Amino acid sequence: MQGFLSGYLYFLAMEFMVLVTLLSLLILVPTFFLFGHKKKYNGQLPPGSLGLPVIGQSIGLLKALKADRVNKWFQERIRIHGPVWKASIFGYPTVVLHGPAANKFIYTCDGNLLTNTQPPSFSRIMGSRNIIELSGDDHKRVRTALVSFLKLEVLKQYVAKVDEEVQHHLQTHWEGKHEMQVQPLIKILTFNIICSLLFGIERGPEREKMLPLFQDMIEGVLSIPLNLPFTKYSRGILARKKLVPIILQVIREKKKALEEQRNPQKDLITSLLSIHDNESSTIMSEDEIIDNIILVMVAGYDTTSVLITFLVKLLANNKSIYSNVAKEQEEISCKKTYEEANLTWEDLTKMKYTWRVATEMMRIDTPVTLSFRRAKQDIEYGGFIIPKGWQVLLTSSMTHMDDSIFQNPTMFDPARFDKHAPPPPPFSYVAFGGGPRMCPGFELAKIETLVMMHRLVTRFSWELLNKDESFKRIPMPEFDQGLLVHVKPLKEDGVI
Ligand code: HEM
Repeated sequence: MQGFLSGYLYFLAMEFMVLVTLLSLLILVPTFFLFGHKKKYNGQLPPGSLGLPVIGQSIGLLKALKADRVNKWFQERIRIHGPVWKASIFGYPTVVLHGPAANKFIYTCDGNLLTNTQPPSFSRIMGSRNIIELSGDDHKRVRTALVSFLKLEVLKQYVAKVDEEVQHHLQTHWEGKHEMQVQPLIKILTFNIICSLLFGIERGPEREKMLPLFQDMIEGVLSIPLNLPFTKYSRGILARKKLVPIILQVIREKKKALEEQRNPQKDLITSLLSIHDNESSTIMSEDEIIDNIILVMVAGYDTTSVLITFLVKLLANNKSIYSNVAKEQEEISCKKTYEEANLTWEDLTKMKYTWRVATEMMRIDTPVTLSFRRAKQDIEYGGFIIPKGWQVLLTSSMTHMDDSIFQNPTMFDPARFDKHAPPPPPFSYVAFGGGPRMCPGFELAKIETLVMMHRLVTRFSWELLNKDESFKRIPMPEFDQGLLVHVKPLKEDGVI
């Protein structure tokens, strides 16, 4: 996730920087890049060109992202330079890496070699103590605290709660409607699930107050970081200022309930407040909890909603996948009695085919494609030097499209992930990253996706209004018209 968030920032800041830099270019002589590094590293830099300083290849990459041609863009360069090459991307000299070994190197690299430091404009909205900014023991401590709630053993108990949110969502936004935009609606769903499950904030005025602030904050993080009146960035900063006291109040209420042993309902915040160190103080400060609550909201909102939106599109266009998914889900629903109306973890374990479809979906259209790191010191990799201060970029989707790893990589085939099929080699399927920073929201994303797919295919049928509606990666995928569908309820017996 840190990859795509830094991606976001570099990406949008880049459009702004292109303008500023064009002017400064006239003054700045690119001697440093052209000669300084070449001389110092004496032929040890990877092949490729830094191009124009600062701008480098960014415009080409931005265009490819917007046209969803990013794999092709990287493939062309890998063909020319090989799996390790240099470029200047989003304002920094960058080494781009490709292949499972590169994935392993980036995802498992010691924080003393590669860092995730974000541009200051990011932490201004997201807070400086969020997990992405942390490294070493601090990162471990906060991650352990987050995972104590996000792990499967805990989340299993909340499947029914996710199901309630999904059913309420479908009742409110889908039932009785004919045409709708799927992507913005699913974003509201994932926001609501996070609010309820992770923060214990149930439906009502508090949640409604938070949604627009949260949306402004995300827009701010994704905007050109210009803090001037009326810019999205300044609205994002303002939204954070308004959101922080609301979250602080929630934290204090939960703290009080814990002190009074009122046995509050378990949620992420309560869980974070319950973990103590040896001196019996909480292991995370209030400020850290605030920053990480905000980060988790952002991390869990766009990613899962993108996956569900892709699946809605896939099932509309691929009748055979649709009928296999529908068959699996109907078998589950017809075995349930009226009393056990809500889905349970047990039900989800039977959705094996549906999850294979989702896994294959993320292989073909990976929600998070770019991961950025920064070299903290000169690093030797693959016979080349990655100089200190340079950016390191990884596109996870490149191994997903490598035909030496996945045969016929452009073909949609969920059977690749069958129980009996050989698993992909380590670090070649990396939709959720890998190593110590691998997505801790994986289990929640899986639960949300499976529950939503179950409720959708057992209650509705839908058609795309524009069969080929495309999306841009900015850098998270955004459908041009929000994925317009025509939706119809199924009759009681499951037929149209
Ligand atoms: C389909 C859904 C999702 C996808 C594809 C996804 C993908 C990713 C990826 C690729 C990374 C690692 C990025 C890197 O190393 O550069 C990551 C990290 C992260 N994700 Fe997710 N994510 C998803 C859902 C979620 C959810 C639901 C949550 C929270 C509830 C979440 C929270 C996080 C956090 C906190 C990190 C940072 C972990 C760290 O730095 O230790 N993600 N995610």
